[in-house]
Amino acid sequence: MDILKYNILLVIGGVYLTYLVQHVSSLPASSATRRNKLAPYPTSDLRPFKKALGYHEDTYLNFTELATKHGYRSEEHTVTTEDGYILTAFRILTNCQESSKRHPVLLMHGIFDSSDVWIIPDKDTAIGYILAKNCYDVWAHNHRGNRYSRKHVEYNPDTDMEYWNYSFDEHGHFDVPAIVDYILRVTQRQKISYIGHSQGTTDFFVMTSLRPEYNDKIHVAIHLAPVAWMTNIANPILKVVSQATQLLKIFLDSSGNSELLSHDQPIHFIFEILCQVFSNSFCSTSLYAATGYVNGTIPSKTLEIAFGHLLSGTSSKSLAHFGQLINSKHFQRYDEGVEGNVKRYGTSIPPQYNVSLISSPIVLICGENDWLSSLKDIDTLSSELPNLVENYVVPEPSWSHHNHVWGVKAPKYVFPKILEYLEKFN
Ligand SMILES: *[C@@H]1O[C@H](CO)[C@@H](O)[C@H](O)[C@H]1NC(C)=O
Ligand SMILES: *[C@@H]1O[C@H](CO)[C@@H](O)[C@H](O)[C@H]1NC(C)=O
Ligand SMILES: *[C@@H]1O[C@H](CO)[C@@H](O)[C@H](O)[C@H]1NC(C)=O
Ligand SMILES: *[C@@H]1O[C@H](CO)[C@@H](O)[C@H](O)[C@H]1NC(C)=O
Repeated sequence: MDILKYNILLVIGGVYLTYLVQHVSSLPASSATRRNKLAPYPTSDLRPFKKALGYHEDTYLNFTELATKHGYRSEEHTVTTEDGYILTAFRILTNCQESSKRHPVLLMHGIFDSSDVWIIPDKDTAIGYILAKNCYDVWAHNHRGNRYSRKHVEYNPDTDMEYWNYSFDEHGHFDVPAIVDYILRVTQRQKISYIGHSQGTTDFFVMTSLRPEYNDKIHVAIHLAPVAWMTNIANPILKVVSQATQLLKIFLDSSGNSELLSHDQPIHFIFEILCQVFSNSFCSTSLYAATGYVNGTIPSKTLEIAFGHLLSGTSSKSLAHFGQLINSKHFQRYDEGVEGNVKRYGTSIPPQYNVSLISSPIVLICGENDWLSSLKDIDTLSSELPNLVENYVVPEPSWSHHNHVWGVKAPKYVFPKILEYLEKFN
């Protein structure tokens, strides 16, 4: 390691430690004074600093800026959910003249992620742009709580902890239906198509099983790295941590950390800079630890840029809900405890999501080396889906969670499948 890198790290480490010490020593004594302790700092102020350090520019550009830079016009749309969350969706405008085409496609990102996931690779290999080039009307949504959708009509996410009382159950029950109805209204269409990645697939399964009437609004739903049952996940850390799900959530909430790993928290900054300083080794090791990623299967430039966008914010309850899926071995609603369950669901145990109600056509696209989305669990899901079109396993043993969107070979294995099925069902 050269001396410059070493010094940069020393400074970051020092600043971060100081920050943590102050933070921990100022933890609130009672829950009455609980608030969001890691409230955002103004990230835009750091741009000149990042520029000076030689970051790749795409690392810190936001969705609109990235699209503009890559030659695409985009729009920003705001939708408010039935329960008051104010969300942002980005629309990539296609240059396509044929108005009979321009079928709307909704893209839903995964956990810790945002709409940016679809446009991070360069302009020729990002699926968001490829869809626009192929005449589709592309809508990239952002679920509640991430950097673009951190607003509410009543709650302040910095001071009202009620804001963070949600998991992917609410994404599926409120966030996705709100944008589906909005797109249908704006485009005057009867149906849209859906592409989900990771938790973005979970959101869909929740929506269409809890509110089956939404099945009629979907031409086809294509799921990359689908997540529903999580009995067989291979991530060794998650397997252990999930045992302590409830404890961990209580600890996080009581210390004012119901918002996790957000774009404007120091942790994001640390990941971003380490990825720039150590380039491939840090990013690929992090992704390996989380998903089983095999080094070299995503272009290193894409990975470096990705860590400027990943860690976009979620709630402690979302993580806890996934922990419950791992432990319970069921695909079920959030366990609020006996009393809470009776109040919320009318039963002492949480109800299961009834995926046999998902009548819309479903395509599953999976990888053999995905530590979060195992083929065994996908078999459980696919055996219960009444309208499964195809369960496609990418024929590359190294295929992991993010290869679907960023992989060197995604344009070979995944994107043609997506285009084929969109064409067929639209
Ligand atoms: C993106 O960045 C530009 C320039 O800083 C800013 O004007 C715009 O509001 C940002 N958009 C979003 C959605 O954050
Ligand atoms: C990962 O692969 C890149 C080339 O794609 C190589 O330069 C780098 O040394 C590899 N890193 C590790 C940790 O193996
Ligand atoms: C969180 O929301 C759920 C569902 O709306 C509700 O049943 C539960 O009581 C809420 N929990 C807290 C701590 O407010
Ligand atoms: C799921 O829905 C089907 C079809 O309506 C119904 O027959 C079945 O009993 C439901 N299963 C559960 C566990 O609720």
